[in-house]
Amino acid sequence: METAWKAGLEDVIAARSAICRVDGEAGRLYYRGYEIGDLARAVSFEDVTALLWFGELPSTAEAVAFAARLRAARGLPAPVKALLERLPRDTHPLDALRTAVSLAAAHDPDARSSDREANLRKAVRLMTLVPETVAAWQRIRAGQAPVEAPGMDSHATYFLELLSGRAPAPEVARVLDVVLTLHADHEFNASTFAGRVAIATLADLHAAVVAAIATLKGPRHGGANEDVLAMLREIGDPACAEAFVERRLGAWAALSRHARGDPRVRVPGFGHRVYKVDDARARVLRGMAKSMAEATGRQQLFDVAERVYDAMRARTTLPVNVDFFSAVVYDALGISPDFCTSIFAVGRVAGWCAHALEQYADNRLIRPRAEYVGPAPRPLPR
Ligand SMILES: CC(C)(COP(=O)(O)OP(=O)(O)OC[C@H]1O[C@@H](n2cnc3c(N)ncnc32)[C@H](O)[C@@H]1OP(=O)(O)O)[C@@H](O)C(=O)NCCC(=O)NCCS
Repeated sequence: METAWKAGLEDVIAARSAICRVDGEAGRLYYRGYEIGDLARAVSFEDVTALLWFGELPSTAEAVAFAARLRAARGLPAPVKALLERLPRDTHPLDALRTAVSLAAAHDPDARSSDREANLRKAVRLMTLVPETVAAWQRIRAGQAPVEAPGMDSHATYFLELLSGRAPAPEVARVLDVVLTLHADHEFNASTFAGRVAIATLADLHAAVVAAIATLKGPRHGGANEDVLAMLREIGDPACAEAFVERRLGAWAALSRHARGDPRVRVPGFGHRVYKVDDARARVLRGMAKSMAEATGRQQLFDVAERVYDAMRARTTLPVNVDFFSAVVYDALGISPDFCTSIFAVGRVAGWCAHALEQYADNRLIRPRAEYVGPAPRPLPR
């Protein structure tokens, strides 16, 4: 048997996929062949979702029908609302979301079916369940009742309205729309892979999304943008950014290799398994962070971020990743640090569903081997 292995499956091809291409050397990202910057500029998140699921950008008529289908699924299920109202108020938003999706599985009208049409219906329901749950939990934990938003608005507008109870300015909704597109998919990232492993056992779509949300939480993955915002706030003053980076990297260099694995000693928002240079999403987000910070009077945090970025550029070859400037955008949107990863999930659920549909369509159980390095066979001790 082949025993060569790579820690963390680095660069291992685990399946074939036609959804998303990451060019780590050039820092480019494509959904179904379309460059992410082009999509972010010109295509709505709903149309991007249709592209990911069905393989082509929708025609005008298809786009109208798909958006209507998403809207028709709106409305937080009563059992999910009741569950959220019972959770301890300090439950992490992503834990609340994971628990809610798990409960929603039990109430899903297609719970016992995993054929393509049933899965599409479930995917549509998950697309609305995730933002509804995220927004409802944000309000409930702050002592406010969840609201409904009965309008005909876009996905991004709907989510923002559920959050604040009032319609957002169109330019704010557009910013969130772009953020959702940028987060919608990223090939075999950890949460998507976890979801595909679940689907490959022929578990249901909700089970896969629960696995994906659980995996998104960690600071090596989606949890990093939470850490970025906390770090930028801790630095506070742009004049302190360089010294902070110097201290953090100096302390990091003095540690053992094992100790350097601790997320708290790293600089969150930098480094990536696949990208060798800054990626296209980070470039788009940097521009958005700048204009949002100016528009909302939160320039200070953007300036801190810029100084951290420059200090990291001068001292390391680590690329900036999607979590760094998205944290600044979230701050400008008034979003608290522990809520950032939930916004990631609102976008990424589109990709999780796309990968689940692709895995179902051409499935084989994902079951790798371990290279055994434990004791040789031996008798029990007397
Ligand atoms: C994203 C990440 C998990 C990629 O991990 P990976 O491919 O397994 O790379 P490793 O953890 O093996 O890191 C490779 C080297 O770079 C260093 N490194 C990577 N990211 C670093 C960071 N953000 N700050 C400081 N050092 C970093 C590691 O310490 C390691 O050096 P060492 O072997 O001398 O200890 C990693 O870069 C990281 O932890 N980044 C910070 C968290 C983050 O922003 N996550 C969001 C990802 S989108």
